Amino acid sequence: MSTDEGLPWAQHLRSTLGALSIYDVPPADATAARMHANECAEPWPAEVMDALAEVVRSLELGRYPDTSGRALRTLLARRHGCDPERVVLGNGSDEVIALLLLALSSPGRPGVVVTPDPTFVMYGHTARVLGMEVREVMLTEELELDGPAMHQALVGATLCFLARPNNPTGSLWDAALIRELEREHPEVVFVIDEAYLGFAPPGSSLWDAAAPSNQVHMGTLSKVGLAALRVGYCIAHPALTRAMNKVRHPYNVSQTSLSLAQTVLERFGPVQEAMLARTRANREQLVEVLGRIPGARVLPSAGNMVLVRLPGEDDAPRLRERLAAAGVLVKDVSRLPRLERCLRVSVGTREEIERLAAALSTVVAGSR
Ligand SMILES: Cc1ncc(COP(=O)(O)O)c(C=O)c1O
Repeated sequence: MSTDEGLPWAQHLRSTLGALSIYDVPPADATAARMHANECAEPWPAEVMDALAEVVRSLELGRYPDTSGRALRTLLARRHGCDPERVVLGNGSDEVIALLLLALSSPGRPGVVVTPDPTFVMYGHTARVLGMEVREVMLTEELELDGPAMHQALVGATLCFLARPNNPTGSLWDAALIRELEREHPEVVFVIDEAYLGFAPPGSSLWDAAAPSNQVHMGTLSKVGLAALRVGYCIAHPALTRAMNKVRHPYNVSQTSLSLAQTVLERFGPVQEAMLARTRANREQLVEVLGRIPGARVLPSAGNMVLVRLPGEDDAPRLRERLAAAGVLVKDVSRLPRLERCLRVSVGTREEIERLAAALSTVVAGSR
């Protein structure tokens, strides 16, 4: 039964919401091997946690933070070699996505969003909330962007989101094709989401301070060990950041998050880099462990997640369930287009990958 039945005011609920579901992930048991959420599994060393505790102790809890996180914006701008006015912070890049969509859609002219399919779900979800048309362009069999289909879908579009590396496929799409799309569709804003850049080969970024005005660079601290803070950002043309700042609520990132993020970036960059390097090394181990599943094919990934294609029709949901029962959480993505029979496994710590290996050997032996 719908919860709004018989409520006279429920007629005013936004008409687009009825067809949408809530993005929700049940809380995970902290004792489980959590390889289902594309987080950075590597723990911060004690000396970093001690330094962050000191930062928390010095917070003035009775005071508002800076309205737009100027100090952190300046730090990010310096790293990217651009003006701080071009940087907008969000409560995670989820909020940045919403700000972009709000700034670029209008009452009576909501606009059109193009995304590859499959990709990160919040692009399409937020666009649908706003009543925008979402054109999903199926990836090729090789999980690459379909150039001709993308060109076609972009005609008359407003925004295009390209996660590079992509979630859930880990693909690092052809940079030349993306540049061509941007060039040939100058009226479309292209958001290049580099959330997983830290796991891609060096030199993979498409960030360029002199990129065309219709390119937006998006990043997040969530995948580099700071998901709890909820800090995402984008770098865009000043005309677009001005529009986004009219939409953005003041003080949208908490002082705790701003201060902790700034401390990590200023003082513990090398520690963070070492955590990413360990994750990249662990990805190799994960690929090897998943490759031991009889009949399975592990797909190449430049992200912190790996897809494994299983041989049997119902293998993905069945294996997910059995692994969960053994305390190892992974994600079943087998219902997504092009990902038939696939599980997505986020890179864990060495210990988590060993737990996965042990659980797999029991499960696989038990199913013979
Ligand atoms: C491609 C991509 N972009 C952005 C995000 C969300 O990042 P944030 O935690 O900054 O909201 C995710 C989360 O999984 C993602 O997969």
